[in-house]
Amino acid sequence: MADARPKVYITRRIPQAAVDMLAAACDVRHWDHDEPVPRGELLANVADVDALYSLLTEKVDQELLDHAPRLRVVSQMAVGYDNIDIAACTARGIPVGHTPEVLTETTADLTWALMMAAARRLVEAAEAVKDGQWTTWKPMWMTGPDVYGATLGIFGLGRIGVAMARRAMGFNMRVLYHDAFESPHAAAVNARFVDLPTLLAESDFVTLHCPLTPETRGMVNEDFLRRMKPTAILVNTARGPVVDEPALYRALSEGWIHAAGLDVTQVEPLPMDSPLLTLPNCLVLPHIGSASIPTRTRMATLAAENLLAGLAGKPLVYAVNAAALGG
Ligand code: GLV
Repeated sequence: MADARPKVYITRRIPQAAVDMLAAACDVRHWDHDEPVPRGELLANVADVDALYSLLTEKVDQELLDHAPRLRVVSQMAVGYDNIDIAACTARGIPVGHTPEVLTETTADLTWALMMAAARRLVEAAEAVKDGQWTTWKPMWMTGPDVYGATLGIFGLGRIGVAMARRAMGFNMRVLYHDAFESPHAAAVNARFVDLPTLLAESDFVTLHCPLTPETRGMVNEDFLRRMKPTAILVNTARGPVVDEPALYRALSEGWIHAAGLDVTQVEPLPMDSPLLTLPNCLVLPHIGSASIPTRTRMATLAAENLLAGLAGKPLVYAVNAAALGG
C-alpha cells in the first residue's frame, strides 16, 4: 500500500530536520541541491504530488498548478509569497503555508547590521585594511553618519518593522513609520505615524518592511529618492522589486541620498554587471535576512508542519489564504 502515503516534492536542499519530518509520513521526492530546480524538472515532478514544499525562487503559477492536478497544499519556506499566485491556489481550494514570526528577530538583526554597516562603512573599511590602505589614524577617513540619536523611518510597521523600532529604542532614535494603517503596536515601540512625504523628508535612515505587491513594486522611484535627505541611507531587506534600481543608481551616484544597504535586489542574484556594484556607497548582501542557523531550521520545520497539516485536512499553522478558504 505504498500508494497510501501522500507524495511530496521538496524543491531545494533544506535543513534535514524538516526532510525527516516529511519522510516519516510521506513519500518524499527531493531536489537535493543548493541551486534552484530547473522549471521543466519542477513541472515534471509535480505531476503526481499531493503537496509542494517550495522556496521563493519557484514560480507557483497557473502553469504549475495545471501540471499538478492532485496538489492539496503548497507550503513555502519563507514569510514572503510574491512568487505564488495565491488567487489561483485559492480558486482550487489549495491552502498556501508560509513562515512568519519565526524569522522576525533574525531578520531585524540583519537589517540592523546592514544599516550600521552602510552608515559606518564596515565593508569598505575592512577591504581597505586588506588592500594596505590603513597607513595611519586619519581624522576624516572612513567617516559616516551616526546611527545613535538619528531618525529612523520605517516603511511598513509589520512584525519586522516593529522589531526594528524596538531596536531603535536602545539607540535613542526617533522613530517614524508609514503604513496603509496606523499600527496598534506603534505606541509600545515609540513609533509615530506620519505620511510618506514626512517620513522621507525627516528620516536619516529609511528602512523598507513591506511585502511586494502591485502597489509597492517600483515604489522607491526617482520621486521617492529625491524626497529623502541627501544625508539619508536607504535600507532594503524586504523585496528587491520595491526599488527602481536605475533610479537608485542615479540617487547614489549623483548624491540625492548618501548610501544604501540592500539585502534584496530586483533580479537575484544581482547580475555581476549591475552598476550598483561599482558604487562604494552601495552595500549589497545576498538575501540573507533570515540566515541564522536556528531560524532557518525553524523556518524549515514550520513549513513541514504547515504541509503536514494541509495533507491532514487541518488548518495550517500559518496559511496565507486561510480566510479566503473559509478559516
Ligand atoms: C525571505 O525573504 C522570506 O520571505 O522569508
